[in-house]
Amino acid sequence: MKQFFTTLGKATGFFTVLIVAIAAVLSYFDDPEPVKYKSMAQDMKSLEENFKQQNKSCFILGASGETGKVLLKELLERNIFSKITLIGRRQLTFEDKAYENLVQEVVDFEKLDDYAAAFQGHDVGYCCLGTTKAKAGAEGFIRVDRDYILKSAELAKAGGCSQFHLQSSRGADKNSNFLYLKIKGQVDAKIEEFGFDRYSVYRPGVLLVDRQESRPTEWLARKFFNGLTSVCSTSMAIPIEVVAKAMVSNTLIQPEQKAEILEHKDITALGKK
Ligand SMILES: NC(=O)c1ccc[n+]([C@@H]2O[C@H](COP(=O)([O-])OP(=O)(O)OC[C@H]3O[C@@H](n4cnc5c(N)ncnc54)[C@H](OP(=O)(O)O)[C@@H]3O)[C@@H](O)[C@H]2O)c1
Repeated sequence: MKQFFTTLGKATGFFTVLIVAIAAVLSYFDDPEPVKYKSMAQDMKSLEENFKQQNKSCFILGASGETGKVLLKELLERNIFSKITLIGRRQLTFEDKAYENLVQEVVDFEKLDDYAAAFQGHDVGYCCLGTTKAKAGAEGFIRVDRDYILKSAELAKAGGCSQFHLQSSRGADKNSNFLYLKIKGQVDAKIEEFGFDRYSVYRPGVLLVDRQESRPTEWLARKFFNGLTSVCSTSMAIPIEVVAKAMVSNTLIQPEQKAEILEHKDITALGKK
């Protein structure tokens, strides 16, 4: 018994040292602090008021997902749109009164051209759609994360949408050897070609969320990064609430360029305001 506790003590000590060492290495290689969003001393309340007066409408793709759910809640709380439409593959039910004015469009993503009308007449589009290779296989992942998203963006643009906000991923790179990052990078780049008046790509690291669905690898990463963020600040993981807040706040800000990429630290700086 005594030996068991000695071994346990040594193991705990070893893992603590390991976490601190990893934290130190990650901090060293971390992205620099984003000056742009940190120094943004704008008053969000007045930006919200101005935006609200424009009576704009938006749609959300992926509102049943973890980030989409929180984004929807944030949009309802801040009340900046006169109309919110959820576009998804199934009808969602909400009990809270705050959700009663939502419009829902149920579409078949395999035949999106038949549902072009669902994408018409929105000023702003948010996309939090996505699946995983583990859940849908490589082909299924490409179908959802590339084909569904590209077609939706194309229809939205044709339907008069001027702003498109896309949740992508940290490390997205169209030349990556990793399928996930490559597809994310391809989609990020392709949508830019559609020529939205404003196009914002959000590239967060690991999403910190208590997901109901079982995703063992993501669960492990979350536990690890939860431990790590209590030791140091890192740009590897982020609570979904921060991502959602950043997407909404960024909608209110006049961008410097038509297309922009918000890396993890930009999202953190903006989402914590
Ligand atoms: N997990 C991470 O750590 C992480 C990190 C960075 C970026 N991201 C990216 O962030 C985005 C959002 O992630 P999340 O975890 O919030 O998403 P999520 O909880 O997995 O939700 C995904 C959404 O996509 C919809 N969807 C999935 N498969 C579909 C299909 N075959 N047809 C139609 N709709 C489908 C889901 O609808 P149903 O509810 O009907 O299934 C849901 O609304 C994804 O693109 C993801 O790759 C994730």
